[in-house]
Amino acid sequence: MPYENVNLEVQGHVGFIKINRPKALNALNSATLDDLLGAVDELSCNDAVRVVVVTGEGNKAFVAGADIQEMQPMSPVEGMSFSQKGHIAMSALEALDKPVIAAVNGYALGGGFELALACDIIYASEKARLGFPEVTLGILPGFGGTQRTARLVGPAKAKELIFTGKVITAAEAFEMGLLNKVVADDQLMTAVEELASKILSAGPVGIRLAKTCISRGLSMDIATGLDFEAEAFGLCFGTEDQKEGMTAFLEKRTPTYHGR
Ligand code: CAA
Repeated sequence: MPYENVNLEVQGHVGFIKINRPKALNALNSATLDDLLGAVDELSCNDAVRVVVVTGEGNKAFVAGADIQEMQPMSPVEGMSFSQKGHIAMSALEALDKPVIAAVNGYALGGGFELALACDIIYASEKARLGFPEVTLGILPGFGGTQRTARLVGPAKAKELIFTGKVITAAEAFEMGLLNKVVADDQLMTAVEELASKILSAGPVGIRLAKTCISRGLSMDIATGLDFEAEAFGLCFGTEDQKEGMTAFLEKRTPTYHGR
């Protein structure tokens, strides 16, 4: 289904969600969050799609934040609802049962940085600039930034970024452990597609369960997480993927996976 502010494309087994409001540097307003959630739902139901890539249209921004124009007159209740709407969209993306790669092709500020942090893996181009300028606007990160940043890099680094509102380069973000990789501007999508291809060559069920174990395990104590992992591991042995992967290894051939 076509969306006003999001372009959804499927190429082979890869679904691309491209935030498309270039005039506002792809800022996330309510309508765009609705579109994002719709696109995530659509990809969730499309079994042919095994990897999702999130990026921004245009050559300047991934997403320059939540829409300041829309937020400026909000009441406290409207502000809370807007934050919750952002949480619903980001959490749906995070909970997708397939790997999600953020291709950060420019500014990823505030809600844009939060969108990237809801993805599993973040690749950024050299020109990307990231940060949480919310405090400079008299607010705080409201689409998950206070939670996901601290979990990723620890509270001290998260607090420094959020309290200062400073905008950092892709190289600095990589150094802090916020990104997986920084690539030359014109190589970003090639690098992301190579990563997607590598993921696609592996067993889809194992990847799906691995994502669930890592993501769910973060909110469990280690013993519960290990039990959860053992159950997921055991589940693999009831799949065609496991039989095919191990048989192909023993027969010294490349496996062909069907994700079942
Ligand atoms: N919301 C609404 N519109 C935005 C926007 C945003 N977050 N970011 C940029 N725009 C708009 C600008 O208003 C401008 O529109 P007009 O042409 O109609 O004036 C257009 O996009 C182009 O932007 P600039 O002219 O400012 O471009 P620039 O190259 O000079 O600067 C920038 C680029 C540094 C990214 C600058 O646009 C900027 O600072 N944007 C705001 C970044 C920000 O503060 N983001 C956090 C928002 S709060 C948030 O995200 C809350 C949350 O956690 C939920």
